Amino acid sequence: MTKDTPKIAGLERILVLEVARVTEAAAIAAARWRGRGDKNSADGAAVKAMREELAKVNIRGRVVIGEGEMDEAPMLYIGEELGTMNGPEVDIAVDPLEGTTICAEAEPNALAVLAISERGGLLHAPDMYMDKIAIGPGYPDGLIDLDKSPSENIKRLAEAKGVAVNQITACMLGRPRHEKLLTEVRASGASVRLIRDGDIAGVIWCTDPIKSGIDIYLGSGGAPEGVLAAAALRCIGGQMQGRLLPDPGAEGQRQIQRAHAMGIKDIRRKYTMHEMASGDVIFSASGVTDGSLLEGVHFRGDFAETETVVMRARTGTVRRIKTTFRDVGAKFKA
Ligand code: FBP
Repeated sequence: MTKDTPKIAGLERILVLEVARVTEAAAIAAARWRGRGDKNSADGAAVKAMREELAKVNIRGRVVIGEGEMDEAPMLYIGEELGTMNGPEVDIAVDPLEGTTICAEAEPNALAVLAISERGGLLHAPDMYMDKIAIGPGYPDGLIDLDKSPSENIKRLAEAKGVAVNQITACMLGRPRHEKLLTEVRASGASVRLIRDGDIAGVIWCTDPIKSGIDIYLGSGGAPEGVLAAAALRCIGGQMQGRLLPDPGAEGQRQIQRAHAMGIKDIRRKYTMHEMASGDVIFSASGVTDGSLLEGVHFRGDFAETETVVMRARTGTVRRIKTTFRDVGAKFKA
């Protein structure tokens, strides 16, 4: 940067392309393992590729949401410093393969996901569950609230949208722990799209109900995925709240201690989208398997084609990038 270069508020915009490169590489690496029934190898390949690409980016990066603690994850562990160390200080949240099982079984909607923020911009969420609620843009602030019942939230959403409740579709993970929630939402008159995995996409779908058919995301999933989803919504617009949900018993006590060690004082705190992802944020996701959000990686001989959505909170710009890579056949063979 010369002395005449205007100073840009927030993250430098060249980083938009850099983070897209990172998720593209992770998606290609994971896609080699599609349908092979080996979710750990698929995840490991995505992690390695993501780490190698992040190392080339001109940032002083620090992983705040990663693959685990240093002693349990050799790569992309929480606290790992990444980048060329020549650039802005950023926090990094990664989910190199969102939907490990769906990738292993070649089912739709597996993604490679990454968000970066200005230092301190992403909630340091421990690896535990989070209760989530999200809607897309265009509604009055405070319309939805985790402290209201699911049926009350759906009723308010239907009123604000100007439709009957039976025109609302909620999305949630199909899990036994959601049985009560599912019964209540169906009893309210709304319909439910149950997904097998991948609640980052579930939240993002709410931002385009015309295309996705989904108006509201409800239920619990991973807290790290919650922060990544909040980062995406910060860029596209929408509302989201999250609250950590420790497991019962001794495991829950360990999770609470871990959360305290990560700086979370009140485990019952309700986080807004802005509290989970603040300041300037860049979010990127590349498709691994074909899905309704993104196409997966398509291999054609030695070529690979990827589709990525990359967006930035400060400007609200959302880019969809289709990229063709040459000579990746040999390089990325599993
Ligand atoms: P993985 O990519 O780690 O397999 O996670 C997939 C996922 O469905 C997430 O999208 C979601 O937040 C979480 O798992 C839910 O956890 P659980 O499967 O324990 O309900």
